[in-house]
Amino acid sequence: MPRVSFAFFIAAVVYGAVGMVMGMVMGASNDHTLMPVHAHVNLLGWASLAIMGGFYGVAGARAPIKLAWVNFVVSNLGILIVTPLLAVLLKTGNLAVVPAMAIGEILLILGMVLFGAAVVITARRPASTGFAVA
Ligand code: HEM
Repeated sequence: MPRVSFAFFIAAVVYGAVGMVMGMVMGASNDHTLMPVHAHVNLLGWASLAIMGGFYGVAGARAPIKLAWVNFVVSNLGILIVTPLLAVLLKTGNLAVVPAMAIGEILLILGMVLFGAAVVITARRPASTGFAVA
């Protein structure tokens, strides 16, 4: 499995653990103000990054590894910008964070586009294993 795949999984586990702790705190305190942050840390951080890491792991040497690393950096930056700012927005209602959040959101979309490009590039490369690719 390429190193980039491990990087995706390690990051995914960190976000997953943070998201789960947030869920426990929300449940215990009955304060669900940060529920959208919990949902997005889990879905963008744990679920999306694990899916991407899984793809790069399965694709192996066929995957465009440099593009995968760019995908990793861009997607993580997006999560690290958007989720704390969303928490600030929900807790304070301060709309001044919205422009910075928009930058993070664009990075998240760019990360998904880069992932899509990596999938297409991988699909167009010949399989090195000799097995039939359906
Ligand atoms: C220890 C693990 C977890 C705990 C204790 C937990 C707890 C919670 C709680 C208390 C809520 C608020 C429900 C409400 O206000 O109605 C919630 C909402 C949510 N959680 Fe979690 N959660 C956990 C893991 C996850 C994971 C792994 C994901 C996704 C991969 C996830 C996705 C969501 C989503 C999308 C919502 C919003 C649901 C809605 O809008 O009705 N959670 N969670």
